[in-house]
Amino acid sequence: MTASEELRALAAQFFKRLEESGEEFVFAPRAEIVAAAQTGLEDSQRGAGLALPGESLEQFGRRISGCTRCRLHKSRTNFVFGSGDPEADLMFVGEGPGAEEDRQGLPFVGASGQLLTRIIAAIGFSRAEVYIANMVKCRPPGNRDPEPDEIDTCRGYLLTQIEMIRPKVLVTLGRFSAGYFHGRVGAPMKELRGVVGEFQGIKVVSTYHPAALLRNPGWKKGTWEDMLLARRIYEQQGGRPSTGEVYQPGRK
Ligand code: URA
Repeated sequence: MTASEELRALAAQFFKRLEESGEEFVFAPRAEIVAAAQTGLEDSQRGAGLALPGESLEQFGRRISGCTRCRLHKSRTNFVFGSGDPEADLMFVGEGPGAEEDRQGLPFVGASGQLLTRIIAAIGFSRAEVYIANMVKCRPPGNRDPEPDEIDTCRGYLLTQIEMIRPKVLVTLGRFSAGYFHGRVGAPMKELRGVVGEFQGIKVVSTYHPAALLRNPGWKKGTWEDMLLARRIYEQQGGRPSTGEVYQPGRK
């Protein structure tokens, strides 16, 4: 058994005992164990591996939904984990939930979400066939930008989602996710669009955030070009053709 397998088995035992004891669920200790075990990993991988052995994406999301690791939990209504096909070949990553997302507990369901749904449809997919998540899972108050430490604290959840879903193409929405997945935090969008990046073997294509597109309708043409690029890379990578169907477990 490798050290990390041993650690996972220990953590699984710990959580089983915790569940049997009926004590209140505690998240932080395991996160700390994982963080300690991950010392020495490449920066782009640190934070992944938070799912328990055998845990499904949905179970993982439910387990972490009471997270209190950063200040954003204090003002949230709902933890917004993500939605869509847990085996999707195409994944979208935005910034953080807005007011409507916070209310419903689902990503991209407000005005910018409706636009995102149309963008996804324009390249031939339904929302149910792709996976949609955010850099941070709780709404930054007043729709402010997420702070670097909030992104950092939440990042393990997103990395674990990516690790479980293993999409073939990741489309970043806006400068926060683009900067992170291209390894160029803070870089302007104009330097990241049109560049096919790679993150842990997954192709990365970046486009504007739909909320920015609502404010700047002139960016539609650029978005369309980005999405065509994403679609082309998706096909090159052997992404499943759209069936118009909803997720069927065990298909990938
Ligand atoms: N903006 C985002 O970045 N994510 C959402 O879920 C909604 C709006």
